[in-house]
Amino acid sequence: MRVRKAVIPAAGLGTRMLPITKSMPKEMLPVVDRPVIHYVVEEAIKAGIDDILIITGKGKRAIEDYFDRSFELEYYLREKGKLGELREIEEIGEMVDIYYVRQKRPLGLGDAILHAEKHVNGEPFAVLLGDDIIVSQKPGIAQLIEVAERKNAPVIGVETVPWDLVGRYGIIAGEEVEDDLYKIRDLVEKPSRKEAPSNVAIIGRYVLPPEIFDVLKDVPPGKGVEVQLTDALKLLLPKSEMFAKRINGRRYDIGSKAGFIIANVELSISREDLRNQVLQHIEKLLREIRYG
Ligand code: UTP
Repeated sequence: MRVRKAVIPAAGLGTRMLPITKSMPKEMLPVVDRPVIHYVVEEAIKAGIDDILIITGKGKRAIEDYFDRSFELEYYLREKGKLGELREIEEIGEMVDIYYVRQKRPLGLGDAILHAEKHVNGEPFAVLLGDDIIVSQKPGIAQLIEVAERKNAPVIGVETVPWDLVGRYGIIAGEEVEDDLYKIRDLVEKPSRKEAPSNVAIIGRYVLPPEIFDVLKDVPPGKGVEVQLTDALKLLLPKSEMFAKRINGRRYDIGSKAGFIIANVELSISREDLRNQVLQHIEKLLREIRYG
């Protein structure tokens, strides 16, 4: 198996981030000076992906504009001699082959992925959710691709979450067969703490086989009329060995307000040009909070 294509679902309504998402896709929310989806596309490219399909929907034009060339802006920057900025803007327009397909109604992640069937054209493919940033030495999705190619099987990215948060995630049950690698026995979408078979939670990265499309067509809408990907994976389980890989790195869920803010703080601290200013301000704030 060789994974060459990636699908980035970015058609959700982002209700947890309202009101900003009323007129702005959450995938375009800025983390330091670039939109979330920039980090996601970059991760895929670093993992060797050379073909990306973004699932967009109503009000998501800004995503297409972002990855397009902007000749007017490039001309202006060249005229002004702002060559560093020019290079950066040109690079974004040349990142990789990006294609788009529209999900007409936001009927869930499973339904969004179903829209990729034609483009994927019978190959295994990577899925990176457009609102999750992973910062790691080896790109998050590359860690899954390595296992998928070695085991010739689908692989789901997971992390251990606190037990009181299991109800927010898809949760897996399985045996740890290697360090940080589980063979999956079962999957449950958003279980109660009591029902949860573990606290190993699915995060926004997958390597899926093309067979997932037929399964997705058979999945009845789950919680909240949405077609859940976890339900489809559960149906695929009896037909295919499936693995879960704990991703080594830090994940930021930009779909939640706290995740968005934490990502901005941490990623700005990791930038040399901003580090000192941001840290000094945080220290000042902490002093004020502690000592009044
Ligand atoms: P989420 O469940 O986080 O997205 O989906 P959401 O529905 O937009 O968020 P809330 O819960 O209302 O705040 C994870 C990813 O799947 C995409 C989203 O854009 C996000 O990147 N998605 C979700 C779709 O592409 N289509 C959908 O119908 C639902």
